[in-house]
Amino acid sequence: MRKYIPVYVRFPFFYAMVFALTEYFIDSGDRPAFLKYPIVPIIHVFLIFMFITVEVIMKALDSVSYHLLSEEDKVKFDIESAKPFTQTETFKKWMFKISALKPIEQEKDIQLDHDYDGIKELDNGLPPWFTGLFYATIVFALVYLVRFHIVGDYTQDQEYVLDNTLAEKEIAAYNKTAPDLMNVDKVTLLTEEAALAEGKAIFTTNCVLCHKANGGGAIGPNLTDTSWILGGGIKNLFKTISEGGRPGKGMVAWKESLKPTEIQKVASYVLSLQGTKPADGKAPEGEVWEENRVAKTPTADVVLTDTVTKNK
Ligand code: HEC
Repeated sequence: MRKYIPVYVRFPFFYAMVFALTEYFIDSGDRPAFLKYPIVPIIHVFLIFMFITVEVIMKALDSVSYHLLSEEDKVKFDIESAKPFTQTETFKKWMFKISALKPIEQEKDIQLDHDYDGIKELDNGLPPWFTGLFYATIVFALVYLVRFHIVGDYTQDQEYVLDNTLAEKEIAAYNKTAPDLMNVDKVTLLTEEAALAEGKAIFTTNCVLCHKANGGGAIGPNLTDTSWILGGGIKNLFKTISEGGRPGKGMVAWKESLKPTEIQKVASYVLSLQGTKPADGKAPEGEVWEENRVAKTPTADVVLTDTVTKNK
C-alpha cells in the first residue's frame, strides 16, 4: 500500500478523514468542533505528529531490511522496484478474479456458435460493478423485508409523525434563540408603551408620507377608522404591511426594509390609532372590520372586484 500511494496523497486523505470524523461525531452546535474545543486541534496536531513518526519509522525499517538482504537479493529487489507499477493493472486483475468476466484475450473461448452476418455473441459475465450493485439490492431488499414487513419496525406513517415531531422540536429550539422571528401565525397585538413608541417612530419614518402623521390618510387610506380594505386586526395588518397592498396601489411590501418584529410594532401602533377620528381624515374605504370575525385572507381578485363596484 505504502509503495503505491504516495505520501502526499495518503497524508491529506488520512487527515481529511480524521477531520471529517471529529466534526461529524462531536456535537459542537453551530461552531466547528475544531474551533470550539481547543482539545480538538491539539489532538489533531498530535495525530499529525504520530503520522510523521510512523512514516519515519517505516522508512527506517525499509532501509534496515534492505541492508539485511544478501547482495543477490538486493539486485533482485532493485529490479523489482524499478518496474513501473500501474494501479489499473492490479485493479483489473482483481476485478477479473472476483467476477466471471473473461479478459479480452480469452474471448475466443467464450464465443457462441451463432454468427449473424459477422455479428458474434460472447457469453461473458457482467461487469463487476453491475453484479455488485445487483447483489447489494438483494441484500438491501432482504434487510428491508425482514425489518419492515416481518418484524414491523415502524411504518411510513410513524416515520412521518416522528420526523414532524423532531422538526417541531427544532423549530421550537430555533424560535427560542431567534428573537426577531415573527410571522403572521405568531403575531400578537402589542400594547406596552415602549413597543408602541417604537412603532410610532417607525411609522413617522416610513409611513406618514402616504398615511399622514395622524393616520388620517393621504395617498394611502385612513388607518384610524374601523373600515379596512385588506382586513383589520393585527394579523391582517401584519400581512398587509409585510406583503404590501394590492398590485399597483402604491403600498410596497415592507418586509423588504422592516424586520418582522418592527412590522409587529408598527402594526400595533396603527391599531392604537383606532377611533382617534382626525379632523382631516379620509372617508372610510373597504369594509367595517369586526375583530371576532374569522380573519379573512383577502385574495387580490375578490378585493379588486369589490373596489371596482365601489368606484363606479
Ligand atoms: C407610498 C405610499 C405608502 C407608504 C409609504 C405606506 N403606505 Fe400603507 N398604503 C398605501 C396605499 C396606497 C394603501 C392601499 C393599498 C391597497 O388599496 O391595496 C395602503 C394600505 C395600508 C394598509 C391597509 C389599509 C386597509 O384599509 O386595509 C395598512 C395597514 C398600511 N397601509 C400601513 C402602512 C404602514 C405601517 C406603512 C409604513 C411602514 C405604510 N403603510 C406606508 C400607501 C402607502
